[in-house]
Amino acid sequence: MWPIPCLGASPGDAREYWESRHGRLHFENVYSVTEDPELRARIMELLTGALDPVAPCRILIPGCGARALLERDLVTSVLAWSILATDYPGVVRAAAKQLQHPRVAYCGRDTRALDLESEYDAAVVINAILSDSDVDNRAMLRSVHAAIRPSGLFVGLFPTIFAPADIGFCEERERWRLELVDLLHSRYCFDEHVGATHILYTPLRLRAILREAGFTAVRMEVFFCESPCLREEAARVYGLEGGDAVIYELLVTCRKAPVHPDRATPHAAAVSE
Ligand SMILES: C[S@@+](CC[C@H](N)C(=O)[O-])C[C@H]1O[C@@H](n2cnc3c(N)ncnc32)[C@H](O)[C@@H]1O
Repeated sequence: MWPIPCLGASPGDAREYWESRHGRLHFENVYSVTEDPELRARIMELLTGALDPVAPCRILIPGCGARALLERDLVTSVLAWSILATDYPGVVRAAAKQLQHPRVAYCGRDTRALDLESEYDAAVVINAILSDSDVDNRAMLRSVHAAIRPSGLFVGLFPTIFAPADIGFCEERERWRLELVDLLHSRYCFDEHVGATHILYTPLRLRAILREAGFTAVRMEVFFCESPCLREEAARVYGLEGGDAVIYELLVTCRKAPVHPDRATPHAAAVSE
């Protein structure tokens, strides 16, 4: 539903972009929201509100990035949980250097085809369903959905095209940014020299593609990236100079649908009785 057309010339392969462009700088130039302790605390709150902190839950973190801060917080605050964190191979190698922990496994996997059994109690995807291809983004959501067990939880943070547009509309000195915003196609041009864009969804389209991937009970809240740490990230990566002009993103929770009783295996039916 509501597909976004491809651009004629793609600036290159997605893996090449993340591993080579950012890998050379040890991934330090990536805008990383999980640097923010407030966001990590909010994610923890969402997870502990939905999952039993004393049950041995398995949590999947696709597109985990190289900094390992979220993984570290999760396993140190909840002793029963374990994590599989995935990303492109070069990125997980960098993450594994930051954190070695018996309940955290890093694995090189493309989020478009994770190819995992539906056994994760929750998946946490933070700014990692992010590419210039709507088809790829939707494939990522479907493959994360497939890895979650029935009734399992999805927590995701998604940038939205309304944030740079809003900043450009409100703040006169940021008006130049509107040139980079293609509202009709939900694209933001992050590198004018090569015309490289990312799709940043609007809430309505994001809700539709989450439902299309099989998620239900979709909830979204606006997360203002206003902590000193995220203001610093926004200044460093996007040259955004503070005040009230802060980036905001969509913090999503939803569920994989439960198994329909008619389709449950005899074992699953016995467990749920
Ligand atoms: C903006 S960074 C966010 C990193 C981390 N989740 C955070 O918020 O700090 C996006 C991450 O998603 C990963 N990523 C994007 N597309 C991917 C794909 N198709 N397969 C695996 N990883 C992907 C990138 O390599 C990168 O580490």
